[in-house]
Amino acid sequence: MKRVLVLFAHPAIHKSKVNLHLIKALNSLEHVTVHNLYETYPDFYIDIKQEQELLTRHDIIIWQHPFYWYSAPAIIKEWLDLVLEHGFAYGHNGSALVGKTVLSVISTGGSRETYTKEGFNRYPITQYLLPFAQTAHLCDMTYLPPFVVHSSHLLTTEDIQNLSLSYRELVKALRDDLIPPESYKQLEYLNDYPLHLKT
Ligand SMILES: Cc1cc2nc3c(=O)[nH]c(=O)nc-3n(C[C@H](O)[C@H](O)[C@H](O)COP(=O)(O)O)c2cc1C
Repeated sequence: MKRVLVLFAHPAIHKSKVNLHLIKALNSLEHVTVHNLYETYPDFYIDIKQEQELLTRHDIIIWQHPFYWYSAPAIIKEWLDLVLEHGFAYGHNGSALVGKTVLSVISTGGSRETYTKEGFNRYPITQYLLPFAQTAHLCDMTYLPPFVVHSSHLLTTEDIQNLSLSYRELVKALRDDLIPPESYKQLEYLNDYPLHLKT
């Protein structure tokens, strides 16, 4: 089994409709560590050594957060800036993350249609996520297609329950190494992976 680290960032979890349910869906999954960044570091003083140790102990890293201003909440940027140090994550002798896998799990207010050339947001989500993809690439990690929950304010309780179940199944499948690289390379979103055929 692979070890999965979920770096969870939501600055106002009491207001969350989507992410709270998604993260709860991972409860009690073996070999899955949920790390709540805003809860651990309310003052933003990130313990760099502890974060690096956590990274080295896991094979799959998930950045889970709501999509804010076409990017991530601030603590994710702070985490990237401080934790992915030269000599650890990249550069001379910086090989701690080589071969690991990264996945972005995000929720957006905008619908999938708005994130197209003709749509209101003009560009696909994958283009907005390029800094994350390239960061992973620089550190010699594999960046998976993202898992995206769109139209957050329109989702029913049933929609959120179904999405939470899909997320749990996806994390289990990644942990159990059931998703071969050649099968997701063409996908825009990992949501589109036919999990029910595999697990
Ligand atoms: C500060 C802020 C910025 C946001 N920026 C975007 C955005 O750029 N694109 C978008 O589609 N939704 C945006 N939203 C909507 C959130 O992505 C949406 O409310 C969130 O994903 C819902 O997840 P939650 O129920 O876990 O909070 C923004 C919301 C806030 C509060």
